[in-house]
Amino acid sequence: MSRKIAFFDSKPYDQKSFNTVNLNFGFDISYFDAKLTPQTVDLASGFAGVCVFVNDDINAKVIEHLVKHGVEVIGLRCAGYNNVDFKAAFEKIHVTRVPAYSPYAVAEHAVAMMMTLNRKIHKAYMRTREGNFSINGLLGFDMFGKTAGIVGTGKIARCLIAILKGFGMNILAYDPHPDESYAKTTGLRYVELAELYGASDIISLHCPLTPETSYLINRTAIEQMRSGVMIINTGRGKLIDTVALIEGLKSGRIGSAGLDVYEEESDYFFEDKSSDMIADDVLARLLTFPNVIVTSHQAFLTAEALRNIAETTLGNFKEYFAGGYLANEICYRCNRTCIKKDGRRCF
Ligand code: NAI
Repeated sequence: MSRKIAFFDSKPYDQKSFNTVNLNFGFDISYFDAKLTPQTVDLASGFAGVCVFVNDDINAKVIEHLVKHGVEVIGLRCAGYNNVDFKAAFEKIHVTRVPAYSPYAVAEHAVAMMMTLNRKIHKAYMRTREGNFSINGLLGFDMFGKTAGIVGTGKIARCLIAILKGFGMNILAYDPHPDESYAKTTGLRYVELAELYGASDIISLHCPLTPETSYLINRTAIEQMRSGVMIINTGRGKLIDTVALIEGLKSGRIGSAGLDVYEEESDYFFEDKSSDMIADDVLARLLTFPNVIVTSHQAFLTAEALRNIAETTLGNFKEYFAGGYLANEICYRCNRTCIKKDGRRCF
């Protein structure tokens, strides 16, 4: 069987880590700068697998063409999979992902944004470089004793909670599948969203993007929050209604926001657009706030995470080509990695 893989939306750091790890796998990888879309899907002709990232659009049309071109497996080199139409993929093409590559990387980036916003490091950095040694306007707050509201208590959230506990913060959490024994050992309290919104000084989002979580942070949610709350989003852009966020920032209800993801990020993030005009007025407005930090979906970007991503992604392809059990396949019926208690899958 062909071991040819078409690698979409490739960046120099991807090629470096995948080429290094591929020395142990020996796949024939062709790197394409283009994202996988209906317009670029023909590039996949002649390949057995495609490797894609968060902003490749794996919709029904793309899947139909991939199947027509003989592609058998889609290897997501990320954890989230909201960009795949699983209904269209079901029983036609296999889809694997990297369930965890470094939850520490994302959690630590969330903390970096919290501390930057709180202690205004972004402003201080610019000031001292210009010879301005004034500290007026750089007032922060002690993290100690403050309350963090964590939405979703999976792998990334648990790393974050461990760090925030180190600061001496109180932790409130919301998860539709609460883990009470984890809560007990950690000393956090699971609460409903309304209580979390009303009691948190910092709110950090760590749930997947699903129909239930789309625009979780909307006008109604923001109205329930404490005045001056900090919001951190390293999850997915569409967890937040950005227009409502901007209103909240303008009114002062939201004190600051650290955003590693943005609902319309696919036209901008990961690309150098510094010579272009920003046509997206919502993004442009966000970038004007002194109390907003936007990073370009970089929370995952550590050396350890890149190595783990390459190892797991190529391991997934290896499992597929060996014809064996696909540990990291995502199931349409379960909408998650499907491993039943009896070891069988539901397809
Ligand atoms: P995970 O699967 O370990 O945890 C997700 C948690 O969210 C689970 O505990 C689940 O029960 C909970 N959840 C599900 N529906 C929910 C809802 N309606 N409300 C609240 N919680 C809900 O996932 P992990 O690895 O912690 O990643 C979380 C998300 O972070 C991913 O889905 C992905 O979108 C994002 N991510 C972002 C990265 C970045 O570079 N910015 C990198 C990796 C992941």
